[in-house]
Amino acid sequence: MTRSAQPIRIAPSILASDFSKLGEEVRAIDEAGADYIHIDVMDGHFVPNITIGADVVKSLRPHSKKVFDCHLMIAPADPFIEGFVEAGADIITIHPEAGPHVHRSIQTIKSLGAKAGLSLNPGTPLNVLDHVIEELDLILVMSVNPGFGGQSFIESALPKIEAIRKRIDDIGKPIDLEVDGGVNFDTAPRVIDAGADVLVAGSATFKGGPAAYASNIATIRGDG
Ligand code: DX5
Ligand code: ZN
Repeated sequence: MTRSAQPIRIAPSILASDFSKLGEEVRAIDEAGADYIHIDVMDGHFVPNITIGADVVKSLRPHSKKVFDCHLMIAPADPFIEGFVEAGADIITIHPEAGPHVHRSIQTIKSLGAKAGLSLNPGTPLNVLDHVIEELDLILVMSVNPGFGGQSFIESALPKIEAIRKRIDDIGKPIDLEVDGGVNFDTAPRVIDAGADVLVAGSATFKGGPAAYASNIATIRGDG
């Protein structure tokens, strides 16, 4: 057992929501017990899909006081960080492959007053954390290749989560350890046991429509 000492938080990915009524969907998951609102930003270049930009984040901001957890799958990311912070992002997570100066990007996020996250793709080695881990507020382990919701969980994420849990505990700083992709009722207990404490869930939160959101979130959290 390598569980986190922090509470388990659920971050529904609005990528799986009904985009024709995004504000309503954000309010619904807020009321259903979401801790973070996970916002997947894709550029059709770093990942093979295009989703939403800072203007959408800004228009969603009045709909919830929960943590806006913005996952930037864009390259370059640096020119857009300020816009997302101004739009209301609380956490900005970038990928190390998105630019040549990961330390600078993290500093930029923090200097603007947001929390900084670093995301590791399934093929990204753990050593990208060297020299920057103490600067981070969140580490995101991708358990699918980024770009789309509804993909299957990649098992190699589990030992990766365990290894990062150990590194975080060794430092003793409460860095969030988030997992993203294919998290559902079956995989959620396994990622929690491996040491994750923020679970992104798109399809698993939104399946069944608004009447099911609260029980879906509780089940993913392990309270169902
Ligand atoms: C994938 C995104 C995820 C995605 C998760 O590129 O970063 O946040 O929306 O979707 P599910 O939970 O359906 O795998
Ligand atoms: Zn994401």
